[in-house]
Amino acid sequence: MPGLVSCPGGLIVIGIISLSFVHIHSEIWSNEVSDVQFGRLGSKVTLVCRGTHGGSLVEWRLNGSSVIPWQTLSSGGSLTLLNAQLSMEGNYTCHDHRGALLQTIKLRLGNLPGFLNVSCHVPNHYKIFCSWKQTVNTNLPTKYISSYSTSKGVNAEPCVQEQLGVNECTITDHYFWDFKHLVNITEINPLGSESTIIRVNIHKLLKPDPPEAVTPEEVEGQPSYLLVHWRAPASWPDMSEAFPLTFSLRYRPVGSNYWSTLQTEENTSMMITDALAGHMHHIQVRAQDALINYSQWSEWSHVVQAQPWSEPLANTEEPTEEPSDDTVFIPSIMATDKLPDPSADDSGSLGLLIFLGLFAGVITATVFTILILLRVRQQRRNSATKQELASMVKMKSLPI
Ligand SMILES: *[C@@H]1O[C@H](CO)[C@@H](O)[C@H](O)[C@H]1NC(C)=O
Ligand SMILES: *[C@@H]1O[C@H](CO)[C@@H](O)[C@H](O)[C@H]1NC(C)=O
Ligand SMILES: *[C@@H]1O[C@H](CO)[C@@H](O)[C@H](O)[C@H]1NC(C)=O
Ligand SMILES: *[C@@H]1O[C@H](CO)[C@@H](O)[C@H](O)[C@H]1NC(C)=O
Ligand SMILES: *[C@@H]1O[C@H](CO)[C@@H](O)[C@H](O)[C@H]1NC(C)=O
Repeated sequence: MPGLVSCPGGLIVIGIISLSFVHIHSEIWSNEVSDVQFGRLGSKVTLVCRGTHGGSLVEWRLNGSSVIPWQTLSSGGSLTLLNAQLSMEGNYTCHDHRGALLQTIKLRLGNLPGFLNVSCHVPNHYKIFCSWKQTVNTNLPTKYISSYSTSKGVNAEPCVQEQLGVNECTITDHYFWDFKHLVNITEINPLGSESTIIRVNIHKLLKPDPPEAVTPEEVEGQPSYLLVHWRAPASWPDMSEAFPLTFSLRYRPVGSNYWSTLQTEENTSMMITDALAGHMHHIQVRAQDALINYSQWSEWSHVVQAQPWSEPLANTEEPTEEPSDDTVFIPSIMATDKLPDPSADDSGSLGLLIFLGLFAGVITATVFTILILLRVRQQRRNSATKQELASMVKMKSLPI
């Protein structure tokens, strides 16, 4: 029973796919339905007026003007351009002897498709990206059919074009052990078609993306060491067992022209042990499939920089060493200046404290007296407003 149910469903899906294909097809050439005629540049192009009866004379106009500014041959109901040039594009109309419009032909001129410049890149074992460029500018609406076949496969499989108008396609889920592919990109325009077929050896083209998140670290106590970590490129299948990568790391002190290189298999970290002490270094990492030695190295990762660990200098803000007898330890002196130490000058600071205490007592007493006086006054003179009182307080307090 499930078979009976699923079969018609499958047929419907196929029907929809083929319908939509037909739809796209007609949309691309939509102008064709009206009277668009395509002609080859440099060739003889003949326009035929359909509305005429054999031999009757018609008048041709271009863009509404009866003067056609280049050599043409007119016979019966047809008009022939001898050497079609781009400037001859336009709306051609034919009219009967009374001037009535018989037909409009929009003429578009261009070239046959030429071979394409196809190139493919292979960032991992499961994807091939191919792109192409025209070698002939056709000046005409164009579409491409892209497919591939393996050396053993009989049928061509589609190379999927994800965006219309972008000349790229993607092959996924291919069998990576069958590494020789034929990629067929066929260009089609109203004048004809041309297939460009290239052989792709995906093992030779295999070129990982550069490693990511390259992070250098200093190693405490080691002025000529740098520890560098990184990650395999995100586009690489996360199957380190089946698809191991080899990495190569290069580094140099900033300003030097010579790189030193280290290589590692499967490790995503490496220790540089001969860095130039006290110098900033530039570091880059690249990757290659570890099993296919004729595959390609990735591009180098972006440059990152790092400096090896160095002994902290003596005059940093936080002294970590005790001053020895014969050194003048400037940082601690500066610290003493900033925070006055009460025990440093006993008698002087004690006198200062007593004086400050007395001064504060006198001020408190004065303010208290003034407040009492003000209160007495307020009780006597109710006419004084609050604002006046406030200003009086200010004025009274000014001399003190
Ligand atoms: C040619 O004809 C099309 C419609 O068929 C019209 O949109 C276009 O403006 C015409 N061009 C000229 C130059 O007459
Ligand atoms: C006719 O119109 C087309 C645009 O539709 C223009 O490219 C062409 O130059 C025009 N030709 C003449 C002779 O005016
Ligand atoms: C290339 O693809 C086109 C369009 O699908 C097809 O007509 C042609 O036969 C293919 N060529 C080869 C050699 O497979
Ligand atoms: C990295 O390589 C070293 C030897 O060079 C090895 O001892 C270590 O186990 C490796 N680390 C990993 C994570 O494979
Ligand atoms: C790849 O490795 C094989 C042996 O494993 C060796 O014969 C061959 O020359 C190597 N090719 C390259 C390009 O290094």
